[in-house]
Amino acid sequence: MEIDVFATLNGIPDEAINNKTTIVVDVLRATTTITVALAAGCLEVIPVLSPEEAIEMRGRLEDERVLLGGERNAVKIPGFDLGNSPLEYTAEVVAGKRLIMTTTNGTRAIRRAAGGRQVVLGAMINAPAVARHVAAATTDITIVCAGTRDRFSLEDFLTAGLIVAELTDQGDFSLRDGALTARDYYYSHHSDLATAMKASFHGRLLAELGLEADMDFCAQVGTSDLVPVYSGGVIKKVG
Ligand code: MLT
Repeated sequence: MEIDVFATLNGIPDEAINNKTTIVVDVLRATTTITVALAAGCLEVIPVLSPEEAIEMRGRLEDERVLLGGERNAVKIPGFDLGNSPLEYTAEVVAGKRLIMTTTNGTRAIRRAAGGRQVVLGAMINAPAVARHVAAATTDITIVCAGTRDRFSLEDFLTAGLIVAELTDQGDFSLRDGALTARDYYYSHHSDLATAMKASFHGRLLAELGLEADMDFCAQVGTSDLVPVYSGGVIKKVG
């Protein structure tokens, strides 16, 4: 089986997604936050592209269990229940709830990966669990980095490299150039992932907003065994 990594959504050929096992990465912070929300007992997450779509869907669902979560410019959207910090998504707040979520890059990347045979969400906190889950895949594996508004994001590429390293520790895979480079990048920073993350463009923006604690949380490797899977328009935990 082959693994490839795409550093942005720009120019990913359909054949790299369709019928492949796809892993979507937006480590700061959407895929981390969704993993945390599901681990805290959130029933499902519905990723949508805009705040307007989220508000319209909440009206249509007429379900008092629905919460709206997400961000624009890393800040909670006016009228929403929650922002995009993983630290907000505690069991007290999200257990038994359905979450409609929109983020600048993460939910867009999830929707782009929708044609995959299996679409999994990856972050640092669940990278070993994601690798164990997809290691037995019978298709090639495509890792899609959400990036930042169609530009390269260091932290997503670093996380993709971690997932590639976890996969190649477990089995024989053929690595395309994106996967080889991402893994090398991860190897060169693996001893201090938080510092590497904080040096990124998005990391510096989050630091300006006083969100260092979010980055320290997002840089922990393997603290969650939860694997989110996107299917039929909804993200749920595996199993
Ligand atoms: C995104 O989807 O662009 C991010 O999750 C932004 C953020 O850090 O809130």
